[in-house]
Amino acid sequence: MSDQCKHRKILVTSALPYANGPLHMGHLVEYIQTDIWARFQKQRNHTCTYVCADDAHGTAISLHAEKQGITPEASIALINQERIRDFRDFHIEFDNYYSTHSEDNRILSESIYKTLRDKSHIVTRHIVQAYDPEKQMFLADRYIKGECPKCGAPDQYGDNCEQCGATYSPAELKSARSAISGATPVNKESEHFFFKLTDFQDFLKEWTRSGTIQKEITNKLTEWLDAGLQDWDISRDAPYFGFEIPDAPGKYFYVWLDAPIGYMASFKNLCDRRDDLDFDEYWHKDSDCEVHHFIGKDIVNFHCLFWPAMLTGADYRTPTKVSVHGYLTINGEKMSKSRGTFITARTYLDHLNPEYLRYYYATKLSSRIDDLDLNLDDFVQRVNSDVIGKVVNIASRNAGFIHKRFNNLLAANDAAPALTKVFMAASETIAEYYEHREFGKAMRTIMALADQANAWINEMKPWVLAKEKGKDQELHDISTVGINLFRILLIYLKPVLPAMAINAEAFLQCGELHWDDSQTLLLNHKINPFKPLMTRVDTARVNAMIDASQEALNMTDTATDAPADTQQPDAGKWLKRDAIAAEIDCETFAKVDLRIAKIISAKQVEGADKLIQLTLDIGGEIRNVFAGIKAAYSPEALTGKHTVIVANLKPRKMKFGMSEGMLLAAGPGGHDLWILEPHDGAEPGMRVM
Ligand code: 2FM
Ligand code: ZN
Repeated sequence: MSDQCKHRKILVTSALPYANGPLHMGHLVEYIQTDIWARFQKQRNHTCTYVCADDAHGTAISLHAEKQGITPEASIALINQERIRDFRDFHIEFDNYYSTHSEDNRILSESIYKTLRDKSHIVTRHIVQAYDPEKQMFLADRYIKGECPKCGAPDQYGDNCEQCGATYSPAELKSARSAISGATPVNKESEHFFFKLTDFQDFLKEWTRSGTIQKEITNKLTEWLDAGLQDWDISRDAPYFGFEIPDAPGKYFYVWLDAPIGYMASFKNLCDRRDDLDFDEYWHKDSDCEVHHFIGKDIVNFHCLFWPAMLTGADYRTPTKVSVHGYLTINGEKMSKSRGTFITARTYLDHLNPEYLRYYYATKLSSRIDDLDLNLDDFVQRVNSDVIGKVVNIASRNAGFIHKRFNNLLAANDAAPALTKVFMAASETIAEYYEHREFGKAMRTIMALADQANAWINEMKPWVLAKEKGKDQELHDISTVGINLFRILLIYLKPVLPAMAINAEAFLQCGELHWDDSQTLLLNHKINPFKPLMTRVDTARVNAMIDASQEALNMTDTATDAPADTQQPDAGKWLKRDAIAAEIDCETFAKVDLRIAKIISAKQVEGADKLIQLTLDIGGEIRNVFAGIKAAYSPEALTGKHTVIVANLKPRKMKFGMSEGMLLAAGPGGHDLWILEPHDGAEPGMRVM
């Protein structure tokens, strides 16, 4: 039986984004990909449920909250609201968006853990780990910094060197210190809980080869499996923001233990509100329902080894498919704040229509795990040429005749049956492409049909017929074919362009378009006057978006806390990787008026995540400056300090008031940022050269 005939019950998930920073263009690859796939399934009349949640636990999340001076609970609640708005505005239509910090997730995590424990899949062992004596907490590798043991590069993370690429253990780092407090770490022993992944070696060998995952990933997993698995450390010691392990006071589940259970919890939370969805039906061991996870290539081990082993060990079903995608590059390079290509979801939305991006990503997406490049020139050209130039154009060039000459009524017969048949026959090919995540192929097939429609209209020349006498019937028939071809294209594009589809459905007065509607025509049917469905991408808006992203860096106001997510592992290390800026001559430099400033007062800015408002004395003149240094400094610590500012920067009107200068600071941003503090002897107003 084909997929189309058999009714399917499908649960779809995207990876749960960490609740410690804004969503950006890299994240959107996955959410747009999953959303298109879920919308496609719904349009095919399957029961498809798309759930997600914030990944709210772990040290990165509590540190992020601490930097803002609020509790983790308050911080994740703020981020949750922001996320829901961003997703909604990109037309990412979750059936439920939840949080891993929820009772549902606690109950499920505890129950899965207890089953695994009772079946002897959990063991405890004592391990020695780096400990920050000042913060009184154990330090994960990424929170230890020091000199690379191979090349001596300073300021390298505890597990690998960005300069020479060496990998090592934190114990090998020279002059190691805690990246959180700066204290020298000491070694300390504690008891940890391990999930015996080794118990599942045979099961995983079979499962990873069962067609659940792409070939390329299976090959990688086979390498790991052949090398032999190790037990997985699932506990963290207090202080830790997460769920306490049952019967183990002071021990918490490692964030990656309860994160995937968050998929189940989000679904459970939805089932409790919906009579038509039954949690057990989807998750019991022999379920006929499907579970599809969409993830990035960096988290394959969690989803294709630990997760299926946990599920099977706890007597739940395993995923039907894990679909892995690659990373995003922009203009061929990693996203970079200084190039203005670290673009948050909100900055994009402030400038451009989300459906441009949905379409562009769709043209680039495939079932492979290759990286996807957002080339901004190509983006403008592709969207304008395809969506506007090919598809919307078909409607706009025919609708006028139907409106002005035929009182909005479509003709009663199909004047181009051979062509409409070609359009209808493409339905299953395009559906297959969507089903197998070959969205690029689907888009190319749809655009080839649009080319055929436009070529046919060019040949029929309705605009010539419109001027001739006695050609009314012909004109009516041709325009009717045009509108019908547009309608079929729209059905095929609806998963990608849902907002445009709603407007087009209103124009066609045809109700909600399902996939099968591609097999029928609208004849002798009243439509509405045509309104533009989408405007062209304006290059000036794209440039403004880049400028705004760059400005966010200059003002160190937004997005300087590079999210510690793993979708773009290098996004947080931008400064080190960025090339030195273009050369300038001495005269140009002399134009920059750098002055010593004394910080007379500093205060928090209500409603701003990153800003501190400073009152500065620059030698008899008082300046008001907003600086994005809140994560690195508390206002109290600043008062009385000397620093350096650019004094002749054009005043900038910001949301919170006028900023009259810019503070000089060094470091990658966020919590790692240091304002320049000149030595004693520097007096307010002195010129810095
Ligand atoms: O890598 C990440 O961004 C994780 N927050 C993804 C979690 S996915 C799931 F397992 F929860
Ligand atoms: Zn090195």
